Amino acid sequence: MINEFTQYELKDHEFEKIRRLVYEQSGINLHEGKRELVKARLSKRLREGNFKSFSEYYKYVTTREGTEELIQMIDSISTNLTYFFRESTHFDRLQVIAGRWINKKDSLRIWSAGCSTGEEPYSIAISISEALGPSGGASILATDISTRVLKQAITGIYPEEKITRIPKHLLKKYFQYGTGKAAGYFRVKKEIRDMVQFRRFNLIEPFPQDFRFHIIFCRNVMIYFDKNTQIELIKKFHDALEEEGYLFIGHSESLSGLEHGFQYLEPSVYRRRNEAVNASGLKKGEAYGLQHSYRG
Ligand SMILES: C[S@@+](CC[C@H](N)C(=O)[O-])C[C@H]1O[C@@H](n2cnc3c(N)ncnc32)[C@H](O)[C@@H]1O
Repeated sequence: MINEFTQYELKDHEFEKIRRLVYEQSGINLHEGKRELVKARLSKRLREGNFKSFSEYYKYVTTREGTEELIQMIDSISTNLTYFFRESTHFDRLQVIAGRWINKKDSLRIWSAGCSTGEEPYSIAISISEALGPSGGASILATDISTRVLKQAITGIYPEEKITRIPKHLLKKYFQYGTGKAAGYFRVKKEIRDMVQFRRFNLIEPFPQDFRFHIIFCRNVMIYFDKNTQIELIKKFHDALEEEGYLFIGHSESLSGLEHGFQYLEPSVYRRRNEAVNASGLKKGEAYGLQHSYRG
């Protein structure tokens, strides 16, 4: 009988099959060091679904009826760590970029790719609101492969321990305090929630044609991919950015060693090269400001 104490053995060939499936489905590269993590996280799903072994579970998730469980499987394996204003220099930089957007006709389009439970896109929305005012003229698309994190993100509700890094004045301005049953919880105000659209999207899939952004945040996601998947993704980000648009990646990530059409601005901040500007010999430092781009 399978119960909460059931222990499973993860055999070599089972780990190999699961590893391959996760890679094909999400680009996530599970090396040998992740074996215990896979065993621990998936054992829970095996118990809940009454599966006798990893082989039986694998067989199920690779059938048509198992599609929903396959999504849950990727959810269980992915790492969703995030917090408000993570790598805070990015949000200072974002405010500078957004500040130069005032009076532009086009609204600023930003993508938070791999948004997890929403702290990143809401930090973006708050920064934009600080720079441009509440009706700021920016739209933020926030996507993740995990439906579990997206469900949580959409609520905009966070327990007290998740909001400790938010500067006090921003907390007061952009969050509501829970009372009664909701005591100890904070909710992102509606005007900020309304700036963000959440959607499930798998980054290894081709990007839709209408993906055109001025700024892309894809932080602490590529770190889980192998080099080939990273190269492909960088190419797609390049194509999805407007000319001279910005790409923010995680502080522990880098584009060095990958072929790409970006100009390095500062650690973990890149800009899509404008071939015409480069050919005219514009100095490197000059490419920083938006005065050379987004005209009109
Ligand atoms: C560590 S979190 C990073 C969250 C946030 N960007 C940050 O830096 O705080 C990585 C997120 O990437 C998502 N992810 C992993 N593989 C993905 C894929 N193929 N497509 C879309 N999202 C993916 C995970 O579900 C997870 O929520």
